[in-house]
Amino acid sequence: MDLKQYVAIVHDFPKKGIEFKDITPLMNDGEAFKYATEQIVEYAKEKDIDIVVGPEARGFIIGCPVAFALGVGFSPVRKEGKLPRETVKVEYGLEYGKDVLTIHKDAIKPGQKVLIIDDLLATGGTIDATIKLVEQLGGIVVGCAFLIELTYLNGREKLNGYDIKALMQY
Ligand code: PRP
Repeated sequence: MDLKQYVAIVHDFPKKGIEFKDITPLMNDGEAFKYATEQIVEYAKEKDIDIVVGPEARGFIIGCPVAFALGVGFSPVRKEGKLPRETVKVEYGLEYGKDVLTIHKDAIKPGQKVLIIDDLLATGGTIDATIKLVEQLGGIVVGCAFLIELTYLNGREKLNGYDIKALMQY
């Protein structure tokens, strides 16, 4: 299946010069959404994953069906002030801005094998911060999976040494 036909390119969103990749048409289509989820599940199957971690907000949309299919739990990574209990935090830069990401302190047990999932790998700032959060808690990042990789932003280089899977590249 050619997943790219389900991605809408939106010019100058959310800022001038950004070519936003809108995945909502993919999520709208049951077959395409199922296919994309299955592709990531296939990638993860041999990795003996203990838990899926996904950053807000679109990491939840892709991460949860994958966790469900693998029969493992899901831990959300959220922007500061959103998680109600004790957290660890990391500051990060993204394609268009700067922010702080947090995860609950008890979200991952030391030694657990973690699959990180997000919709998009751009500069890699979000996933680099997510990896740091997981590792602060003693988790082992065994893979990072995305629907889309913007290769011209070199996120993969930033995540050097980690196993990366992207279903679509631009
Ligand atoms: C987008 C996207 C990724 C991140 C990728 O999220 O969903 O999480 O940017 O960019 P990076 O590789 O340069 O870090 P955004 O921060 O816009 O948050 P949202 O999903 O909550 O809208």
